[in-house]
Amino acid sequence: MEFKEKFVEKYASLTDIDRFLEFSLKSIRKSIRVNTLKTSVTDLKKRLKDYRLTQVPWCNEGFFVEGPRTDLGNLKEHQLGLFYVQEAASMIPPLILNPKLGEIVLDACAAPGSKTTQMAAMMKNQGVIVANDIKPERIKALSTNLQRCGVANTVITKSWAETINMKFDKILLDAPCSGTGTIRKSLKTIKIWNPHMYKKLAGVQKRLITHCFELLNEDGIMVYSTCSISPEENEEVIDFLLDKYKNAKLQKIDIKIKRSKPIMTNNNKKFSSEIEKCLRIWPQDNDTSGFFVAKIKKI
Ligand SMILES: C[S@@+](CC[C@H](N)C(=O)[O-])C[C@H]1O[C@@H](n2cnc3c(N)ncnc32)[C@H](O)[C@@H]1O
Repeated sequence: MEFKEKFVEKYASLTDIDRFLEFSLKSIRKSIRVNTLKTSVTDLKKRLKDYRLTQVPWCNEGFFVEGPRTDLGNLKEHQLGLFYVQEAASMIPPLILNPKLGEIVLDACAAPGSKTTQMAAMMKNQGVIVANDIKPERIKALSTNLQRCGVANTVITKSWAETINMKFDKILLDAPCSGTGTIRKSLKTIKIWNPHMYKKLAGVQKRLITHCFELLNEDGIMVYSTCSISPEENEEVIDFLLDKYKNAKLQKIDIKIKRSKPIMTNNNKKFSSEIEKCLRIWPQDNDTSGFFVAKIKKI
């Protein structure tokens, strides 16, 4: 697998490029999240006794799985909704948003629903989640996953998130992105990568984050996440929001995970020192996908 020269050049200035490329090509460790709406960790472990389950350090319900089959989605326990196949780093945004039982929560870009189902379980099926997405075929998968997992506190909407008009206590904006943190899940990501692709995406991300921030109640919390490792889609989007809204305050992210320093300067642009509070994870940090998470409070 050949990486494009411009890609290597760009990331060599941001991280240990050899380790990044090495981990970007390693196959991803399979992981699942136990669906506590339908079972418990202890019971699922008993049912999957032929598999070796290793705790994901930052998520009580998350486990790396090794065993006789790798097509975990075809196991009976999966069809029964006892677990969700979910990449370990992707379990982080709901944990940081921490939705509570009676809250009104927006999952602005929800399909296929890994994080919606996780939040519904955290909320014990109480309160309300509005799970929104724009792509019909992905909404079908979202709907199937909600049913399979026994989610009962969620309504699905199909709209451009930029047009939603309602207030929320908490918002998860798991934004559409270039996916450069997930090369190890799909090599297509690197095949279609070009040095300009983030420009359009960053525009969408800035529109989405601005609108979602407007939808927050006072004292509300928004979590912005992507599976991209590009600063233009991450730190720069958050810096843009902080610049635009003086009542947007970044919060520290407390989680048991190895993290890298956020990028503080990109293309000669220096970001606010607040950006230090964001969570940046490269694939080589924890042997997962790359991920970026920011927690914002509206004061
Ligand atoms: C990173 S994926 C979401 C993954 C999902 N949160 C999960 O954990 O399963 C981003 C999603 O955003 C949707 N999307 C893209 N642009 C959108 C927009 N303007 N409004 C709403 N959804 C959008 C895409 O269809 C895609 O499903």
